[in-house]
Amino acid sequence: MPEIFINGQPVAAHDGETVLEAALRNGHYIPYFCWHKSLSIAGNCRICVVQPEGKNWVEIACNMPAAEGTRVLTDSDLVKTHRKMTLQFITLNHPVDCGICDKAGECTLQDYHYEYNGERSISNVPKVQSTKFVELSSRIVLDNERCILCSRCVRFTREISKTNAIGIKQRGDESLVRASEDGALETDAYSDNVVDICPVGALLSRRFLHQARVWYLKPTPSVCPGCSRGCSVDFWHRRREWKLNALDPKQNVSIARVTPRENPEVNGPWICNTGRDLPDLLGRARALQPMQKGQPVDGAAAVAAARALIEGARKPVALVSSWGSTEELAAFAKHLGGKFASFVKSDRQPAEGEVLEDDLLIKADKNPNTRSAKQIFGDAAPRFDEGTDLVLVWGEGCSFADLPRGAKVVFLGSWLAPENGHADVFIPVSIQTERAGHYTNFEGVVSGFEPCFPKPAGVVDAEALFALLAPPTGLRA
Ligand code: SF4
Ligand code: SF4
Ligand code: FES
Repeated sequence: MPEIFINGQPVAAHDGETVLEAALRNGHYIPYFCWHKSLSIAGNCRICVVQPEGKNWVEIACNMPAAEGTRVLTDSDLVKTHRKMTLQFITLNHPVDCGICDKAGECTLQDYHYEYNGERSISNVPKVQSTKFVELSSRIVLDNERCILCSRCVRFTREISKTNAIGIKQRGDESLVRASEDGALETDAYSDNVVDICPVGALLSRRFLHQARVWYLKPTPSVCPGCSRGCSVDFWHRRREWKLNALDPKQNVSIARVTPRENPEVNGPWICNTGRDLPDLLGRARALQPMQKGQPVDGAAAVAAARALIEGARKPVALVSSWGSTEELAAFAKHLGGKFASFVKSDRQPAEGEVLEDDLLIKADKNPNTRSAKQIFGDAAPRFDEGTDLVLVWGEGCSFADLPRGAKVVFLGSWLAPENGHADVFIPVSIQTERAGHYTNFEGVVSGFEPCFPKPAGVVDAEALFALLAPPTGLRA
């Protein structure tokens, strides 16, 4: 373990680390734009300069090996002067249109300007203008005037998603980030990560474009239910104190955007575009009305009817949800497991055009908690014996046409669907954004999620419902 000295203080570096990495890990902040811990070193932005002790020059810390005895200063007058000059240079042609930029509030250029420069531009020549709204793909737009040419986006598509979908063409102040002409960015299943790693507001998500200022939003830790990887994510939604009552109140209970929450055990710093599109999947029209044979009833009547069907059934089968939390699955096993022959159902199948599986993150099983469900209920394929007289269907992914003719059906669902009205009893249940719980991913890693919104009226938590549906002890099989 090499020992280095930052501002005279000893720091234990790891073998192979750079001065920047050792400094950041030990609480000595050095600013950086182009460096990213999961990408190769480009060394092009020059904001990370440090001064070797006793020398009258600066060097970039992101490409300086932390060799035994290295001594650097991170806040000398020379370093401060160079940082200022670098920021003057980077903002020479930058439009400073922070007022209309989605990155405002999360922009490192904005932060560093206030922290390390704070002065007006010393240039007296007009800024070079460039293209402002370039559609790189159907998901991403580019503002070339804001681009600081750090090349993070280029390296991401070369090294992580491996599509080589973004490049930089031309030279000097005519340099332009552009998508490759083969359309690879359109089919890059991880393309939206470049929006996160762009240190400025040059690359923007079309689905989030001008939808909210980030300081009106708060992130709630969650787990992507899009596949059995179970990536750690943040669901961003409006803060309580910034609720929109005069505009569209639906925005108060909608996910504004999804970003990765770094988790080295599961997804590192990335997620795929399916995770970004969860607001569509989770924001579908909800089922809020309990029903009996398609007729609206109140919640208590629906529960009583379902309970009577369960008590009276002789050969009931349950198709349990691979989207249920581990807590809900355990509650089902505790309260109803003795009564039902239970099988784990695949709630979601791959959508048309969705990547089935790859060697980065995406898994073929498009359900988040299959592993927990199968640990509790086994992994036999669903089957109905002769005489099956009741099927309890929990969650999506079941065609009622495949159920045994004549069997009664109790359906627990969350979204509007034709099946709701065809069930003998339909009870609406809450979704992931309305409750807390855990999923176990395909490798056995357990991750938790928190509620973002209150449950709508008429909806119950499946965990509480299973206790209400439990038959009296003497009637259990
Ligand atoms: S678009 Fe963003 S990530 Fe790409 S080079 Fe420009 S500043 Fe860097
Ligand atoms: S890889 Fe799977 S869990 Fe991760 S973001 Fe994509 S769909 Fe969600
Ligand atoms: S972070 Fe070191 S040169 Fe950009």
